[in-house]
Amino acid sequence: MNREMEPLIPVEDLPQHIAIVMDGNGRWAQEHGQPRLIGHSAGVKALRRCVEACVKYGIRYLTVFAFSSENWRRPADEVNGIMALFVQAIQTELAELHRNGVNLRFIGDKQGLPSDVLQAMEEGEQLNVQSNKLTLIIAMNYGGRWDIMQAARQLAEAGLDITEQALAERMATAVCGPDPDLIIRTGGELRISNFLLWQAAYAELYFTERLWPDFSEADLLEALRDYAQRERRFGALSLD
Ligand code: FPP
Repeated sequence: MNREMEPLIPVEDLPQHIAIVMDGNGRWAQEHGQPRLIGHSAGVKALRRCVEACVKYGIRYLTVFAFSSENWRRPADEVNGIMALFVQAIQTELAELHRNGVNLRFIGDKQGLPSDVLQAMEEGEQLNVQSNKLTLIIAMNYGGRWDIMQAARQLAEAGLDITEQALAERMATAVCGPDPDLIIRTGGELRISNFLLWQAAYAELYFTERLWPDFSEADLLEALRDYAQRERRFGALSLD
């Protein structure tokens, strides 16, 4: 590794789990005089770079918001385009992901997703590498309210008491790993947009103006440095 690129962040100050709202693909396309779908395509490339950087810095979990429950409100052409990109990206990147020790997981409401998308998701989750360095969790047709609702519904249907632990165990992310430590949103908006509402309870939030297709390893490092400076108290008092 180039010495100038070394993060110089103590391992214990790195987040285990990063979650990202990859916003700004549309504006990036507009700035480049291109159709919105070209922006999403550039977004997939940015995701690839980000996954590589996360593996390099020893991040264990990366959750990305690919398609929200609300994104169906976009024009059909854009929705279909994103779905096609998604299937294509899984098919072309899966072997390379596995070679790099990355396992794939998907969270979200499977109902309403086209069959080719469901099939790609199934194939993506089938094979798992033993040398798992990073788990990439892709939120597809996901909404934070949907997640809380489906967990509550599971408890109601099983006739179980609603406790914090029982709900937490049934959140879509529970099988993937710990709650996110750091949530990054690109594209300049200061919102959570129905992402991991329950899981974000104690996450550090980081917002950047950078449009997602331009988000680089240097930008990730900046976010990691910022995170390393934060004092996480989880509701307790500072010890010093
Ligand atoms: C937000 O930008 C981005 C999305 C709604 C879709 C993100 C999708 C991808 C990067 C491709 C998904 C594929 C995989 C394999 C995860 P925006 O369109 O809201 O941008 P804008 O705010 O500038 O309009």
